[in-house]
Amino acid sequence: MNERLGSIVDLEKYPIHDLDSSAIKDLISRCKEELNNNSCAVIKNFILPKSLMTMNKELECQLDEVYMSKEKINAYLYAKDDPSLPKENPKRIFMERFNGYLNSDCFSENSEMKFLYETDELLKFVSKCLGVSPIYRWADPLARHAYNVMEPEGILPWHFDSCEFTLSLMIQKPEKGGIFEYCPNIRSPGNENFEDVAKVISGDRERVKQLDLEPGDLQIFKGRFTLHRVTKIEGQKPRYMCIPAYVLDPYRVNTPEHSKAIYGKVLPIHYERNEKRSDGLAD
Ligand SMILES: [Fe+2]
Repeated sequence: MNERLGSIVDLEKYPIHDLDSSAIKDLISRCKEELNNNSCAVIKNFILPKSLMTMNKELECQLDEVYMSKEKINAYLYAKDDPSLPKENPKRIFMERFNGYLNSDCFSENSEMKFLYETDELLKFVSKCLGVSPIYRWADPLARHAYNVMEPEGILPWHFDSCEFTLSLMIQKPEKGGIFEYCPNIRSPGNENFEDVAKVISGDRERVKQLDLEPGDLQIFKGRFTLHRVTKIEGQKPRYMCIPAYVLDPYRVNTPEHSKAIYGKVLPIHYERNEKRSDGLAD
């Protein structure tokens, strides 16, 4: 058994190191069903309280390295308008965004979160829950397991992720607001469904679901096909999350534009691997 993993994850309740145990088989089938129906599954109190404190501390020690960005952005995370598109195309709708990341390349060698992300136990467990194999850790050196920081007044508008699968680990909850909202399966490979995406962005609530995460909870999420947002942070306490990500393509990284806008810098790998997406969807 991986001893350090046992000090991070509640393995008594969730023995992810033993995929043949009946407890984990039951959990996997519950998560699989939720992911199929809702694009999203939640495992309560996945992280042990002591490890949660360690993660909180490691982030707070490096808050001055967090890249905060404030700009207007569309659901595909671009800030530039394309006037050749029809006015109603959601690519032409820009929303206020104020959000920050501690990039993965800033993490210390011994980081608790980095260690958890790099365990094969977590990767194999997530793959089973998704019913997708193989999945890979994201090759993007900045985005693969970034901490997300939302300060008071922070807001993350409606968007799609550029990686297929995201874990969200709630580290610190704000006093009010910061609610995760999502629209399951609104787009699929080869089908952007611009009409429904535009409707949601314009305020239609019919497809919108809400999720209330508590510190220590783990959410598994298909963020590339599910439009989602985080509502404005109210009160003085910032919202901290960690968002380790998994992908179908072990080679691909964020586009240079994306990396610059969201993570504040572009590395040679972003230029070298800047290729068209195989699922035909916009980033
Ligand atoms: Fe996202």
